[in-house]
Amino acid sequence: MAKIAVLGYGTVGSGIVEVISRNGDLIAGRIGETLEVKYILDIRDFPGDPFADRVVHDIDVILQDPEISVVCETMGGQQPAFEFSKRALCAKKSVCTSNKELVASHGAELIELAKENGCNYLFEASVGGGIPIIRPLNTSLTAERVVEITGILNGTTNYILTKMKSEKAPFSDLLRRAQEKGYAERNPEADIEGYDACRKIAILGSLMTGKTVDYRDIYTEGISDIAPEDFAYAQAIGTTIKLLATVKEDADGYLAAVAPLMLSDENPLAGINNVFNAIVVHGNMQGETMYYGKGAGKLATASAVVADVIDCVKHPGKHVICLWSKERIALKDFSKVRSKFFVRTAISDLETAGEVFGRIEPVRLAQLPEEFGFVTQEMSEAEFAQKQQKLPGFLKRIRIKD
Ligand code: NDP
Ligand code: HSE
Repeated sequence: MAKIAVLGYGTVGSGIVEVISRNGDLIAGRIGETLEVKYILDIRDFPGDPFADRVVHDIDVILQDPEISVVCETMGGQQPAFEFSKRALCAKKSVCTSNKELVASHGAELIELAKENGCNYLFEASVGGGIPIIRPLNTSLTAERVVEITGILNGTTNYILTKMKSEKAPFSDLLRRAQEKGYAERNPEADIEGYDACRKIAILGSLMTGKTVDYRDIYTEGISDIAPEDFAYAQAIGTTIKLLATVKEDADGYLAAVAPLMLSDENPLAGINNVFNAIVVHGNMQGETMYYGKGAGKLATASAVVADVIDCVKHPGKHVICLWSKERIALKDFSKVRSKFFVRTAISDLETAGEVFGRIEPVRLAQLPEEFGFVTQEMSEAEFAQKQQKLPGFLKRIRIKD
């Protein structure tokens, strides 16, 4: 029998226990032995829970038990998750995690520590919830030079944007609904302001380059400024609005960014709705491959953690190679990145907008007579910032995906 421990009995941690209970026979058939959750570490007790007798409060109970071969870290945050993960790896116990905050900030170090100790630090659930994306990058796509990864990487914000478009419901109501469904982070600012998607694209960028894409270097903008009216404008120009995260390599180096973008209704990412996420990987031989599934939620995420556990149990004493060194990649200066912009403006007239921005394509909505919108030509972020200051009545801008 393979025995594991779960650190943090919240949404994902309790999902792990449920996945192992419900699919226990099937999992046992696949690994050749029964998988049992021997311990659950949490701050609280869970009286009445069928697994209440497994709950412990002292990490040493787990680390000193030679029967435990794998630890699932689903507490989240930096500390004590970082300390516990390091100690588990040093005790030669593999760690499987959904904690993208920790993976993005210490992934290279923890992988290295796992290698030194002949075990694994696996993090399939840290990006895209239940979507298999880490394993494809580490196995199926290893013959490729991956030159771009772009995706919808946050379930909470995709849920909010989808419902804002279809129901025109207020932002606060939609966030509350996402929280009730177990999608949002403990501090939902991480979802709303794009920090969560930023950490996830940093992880994917690090796997793409084999070096560290530092999340602190990534230009990040969230969706707190997006309103139902923006969707009316987006629709008028044949687009929709999605929070996209991207990392790409071109002739001048690497670019990484997270921002809400207007993207054509024809773009496959435009049709990804609700809590679903999707990731498009562009390789130099295969071209585009796309990965789709539930980006957040208890069972989808837990299933991805359990798949990592099964991998560890099936290959005891083996370290799965994952190339991610501590060397930091220099990212392109975001002010030089070029795009077209959609601009909403009050009071100023078309002529003034044209004088400031040059050739523009105006968009008017009958329901918003006090303002108008327009699409600019392609320009750099720095050029746009200069022009924006000269436009009276500027309300907001949203970048348009090329
Ligand atoms: P929850 O807040 O639901 O669960 C975390 C659990 O860990 C809580 O029970 C918490 O207890 C417990 N905990 C916190 N600190 C400690 C500690 N020091 N010792 C023991 N237990 C502790 O979070 P989620 O399950 O939603 O998320 C867990 C991780 O997975 C996070 O990193 C999150 O970003 C990630 N994730 C979440 C997804 C989701 O859909 N929810 C999807 C993908 C990844 P208490 O409540 O008492 O503080
Ligand atoms: N809060 C995250 C999201 C959880 O909404 O995508 C999954 O990582």
